[in-house]
Amino acid sequence: MNGTVDMIVIGAGAAGMMCAATAGARGRRVLLIDHADAPGKKILISGGGRCNFTNIHTAADRYLSSNPHFAKSALGRYAPADFLALVERYGIAWHEKTLGQLFCDGSARQIVDMLVGECARANVAVALGHPVSAIEHGDGRFRIVLNGQEWSAPALVLATGGPSIPKLGATGFAYDVARRFGLAVAHPRPALVPFTLGAADALFRSLSGVSAEVEVWWNKTSFREAALFTHRGLSGPAMLQISSYWQHRTSINVNFLPDQEPDWLIRLKQSHPRMSLKRALSALCPARLAEALVERLMMDGADLVSMPDKTLRLAQSRLAKWAFAPTGTEGFAKAEVTAGGISVAELSSRTMMATRVPGLYAIGEAVDVTGWLGGYNFQWAWASGWAAGQAI
Ligand code: FDA
Repeated sequence: MNGTVDMIVIGAGAAGMMCAATAGARGRRVLLIDHADAPGKKILISGGGRCNFTNIHTAADRYLSSNPHFAKSALGRYAPADFLALVERYGIAWHEKTLGQLFCDGSARQIVDMLVGECARANVAVALGHPVSAIEHGDGRFRIVLNGQEWSAPALVLATGGPSIPKLGATGFAYDVARRFGLAVAHPRPALVPFTLGAADALFRSLSGVSAEVEVWWNKTSFREAALFTHRGLSGPAMLQISSYWQHRTSINVNFLPDQEPDWLIRLKQSHPRMSLKRALSALCPARLAEALVERLMMDGADLVSMPDKTLRLAQSRLAKWAFAPTGTEGFAKAEVTAGGISVAELSSRTMMATRVPGLYAIGEAVDVTGWLGGYNFQWAWASGWAAGQAI
């Protein structure tokens, strides 16, 4: 292959490999490049090494974007079942873990090998380990310089993801290129990221390692999943999910006992008058958490019978709506994804091409579409990559 191709894809991650393989399989000559020395590094560490590669409940309302309808077209045309069919064609064993999340039985490496295999089958040229040193545009072609050689193509795909986990080579490259071409970028911010708590919540930070199923909400959005206390604050699926919605200097609310009826403490007082609140709570949540909660409620030790109903009702309502005011998040260093990105108002939802810059495409996490935790972000990477790969 010489320096002239039909399409150059920058970023050999989830979306870039899917896009390159899709276009290559349609007979397009594709150059796929990455500054990292190996493709799909985030895939390798995803899902605790087993890659939560999709979610069977995928729907546009499980994504954050400044246009909630934007993702519908791509997600509708490349569904979880399509990716699953590919996984099965490669004989990769998988299982559903919880809440529709599909994981490899073996290793995330199988997904990377599968995508590399699809790129090879489609004759995609892959160039790893070199940064792109220049991008020019003119006469309907994009020209890039890679390792001293010039390549040109009528189509350029930005698939370099977002800046979360910079130590894996993640950058804001796609935003810089998009801005150079005059495209708007919705403010990028860390998402699916642990919260930090301040000195006022040191008691909860001391519970590091304790986890409990909770319901957490911010404004009208809520999730019921596990929360994990850390030495810096709050993590676990419930907290990661709500972090994508949270705005600085606001509180999140936690129901520590989402299965209890509204008047459960009053009824317990009637049936077990000599029981302490600490014992009652220990039966419903981890003992260390129960201890911290009663300490905060200043209701340590006393029997239920010794407490007026009014006090118990107050305790019930605080346990059902515990406000935490995070001081911040652990930032891009720990964020599973980046929310915001190349503005969807600039892109065709069908092809992912920038409407004002014909031939320039953006896919995957680089775009202002951010999924919930649980395989939704990979499904967006596959679907948007497939949409662009079909269009070129
Ligand atoms: P992705 O980040 O995969 O790929 C971008 C590529 O571009 C990389 O190969 C990078 O090296 C390259 N690149 C960056 N800058 C460049 C430059 N300047 N020049 C050239 N190349 C450049 N999602 C999910 O659905 N299920 C899961 O189980 C998980 N688990 C998970 C765990 C952890 C720890 C993290 C950090 C993230 C997840 N995710 C996830 C999120 C998921 O990994 C993410 O949404 C996708 O990888 C996004 O795919 P992209 O192809 O858009 O970017």
